[in-house]
Amino acid sequence: VFEAVENLPLDPIFALSAAYVADADSNKINLGIGAYRDNDGKPWVLPVVRQVEQSLLNDKSLNHEYLAIDGLRTFTDASAKMILGSESIAVKEKRFLGVQQISGTGAVRLGSDFLFKINKNATVYISDPTWGNHLQIFGDSGFTVKTYKYWNAATRGLAFDEFLESLKNAPLGSIFVLHACAHNPTGVDPTHEQWKQIAAVIKERKHFPFFDCAYQGFASGSLAQDAWAVRYFVESGFEIFVAQSYSKNFGLYSERCGCLTVVTSTEQQAINVRSQLCRLNRSSISNPPAYGARIVNAVLNDPTLFTEWEENLRTMAHRIIKMRSECVRHLTDLKTPGSWDHITSQIGMFSYTGLTKAQVKVIKEKFHVYMTDNGRISMAGLNEGNVKRFAEAVDYVVRN
Ligand code: LMR
Repeated sequence: VFEAVENLPLDPIFALSAAYVADADSNKINLGIGAYRDNDGKPWVLPVVRQVEQSLLNDKSLNHEYLAIDGLRTFTDASAKMILGSESIAVKEKRFLGVQQISGTGAVRLGSDFLFKINKNATVYISDPTWGNHLQIFGDSGFTVKTYKYWNAATRGLAFDEFLESLKNAPLGSIFVLHACAHNPTGVDPTHEQWKQIAAVIKERKHFPFFDCAYQGFASGSLAQDAWAVRYFVESGFEIFVAQSYSKNFGLYSERCGCLTVVTSTEQQAINVRSQLCRLNRSSISNPPAYGARIVNAVLNDPTLFTEWEENLRTMAHRIIKMRSECVRHLTDLKTPGSWDHITSQIGMFSYTGLTKAQVKVIKEKFHVYMTDNGRISMAGLNEGNVKRFAEAVDYVVRN
């Protein structure tokens, strides 16, 4: 049975984490996987999460019974309202739904599998570059996956004209995967004006906008501001999917807590779509895990905890912003050739440095700095203890 089975390489991001762990050098720096670290380079359990965990532990009414197939309804409703806004027209007209899944990845896969069931001939367009998993998720569902140009290497910014061209030239009714905010890996988002133009072409070409939202709260530090694009599309009358992850903004990486939020045209459609997504959940995971959802549920539904969470989010976002400016300051001090302003103008957890694959290789081998081959760094891996060393390593590879 297994004779012809090939051995696949490890996922690049997880392979990088494993290589970092295996490296015995005491000065090693991990800028690979997108996971928040505090100023001591340690994983950070958000104080609000610790607090809720304590009360969950003491709550004797909780047990380990199954959740519903579509998850914890108070969590999915709150999750939908967090991205759509509780004043959203879709919420008021009850033409929305949320189905809990295994974090953002599970939500993207659920949405993808469902879209393939109802429209297998559609082409899926993902940004070039994008999060490495998008290609295989949509491909594994069965879709033909193509890319739209997103990054302009010369300006180290958005390739807006090419992006619009792709939207115009894609077959009518294609599926466009859009990053709701804090684009991974580039850290470059369209402006509001650009989003309006993107939405206009998507409407004209009858494409379907599928938002991946893994970083709400990380781009601007404001949840509402980071939801701007999604809310604009809903106000403009679109039906949408939004895959929401609570890995980053709650630091619940291993709890796999996420939600596929859907906006439909009618309340009945929302009921019908929910039933189909439940069918897919049942055949893949039966029903989702409770622990992470209970934590997020407690926070999203309690104004005091919510305010504390926003404060925790700002702590993470501000530390990252500080590391961006510290990094540029050291590069400026070193007179490192080239322009590095993009590090401070990019947003979210990542910076797309512009370093080449060859430079990334040297920086790893010589300086024990781990970053993805495309030159992306997780800003959260930088801290006051290693940012200067990182800048020196960049300086070396740029000059040699
Ligand atoms: C990343 O891009 O590093 C994160 O989204 C983690 C992952 O699952 O790849």
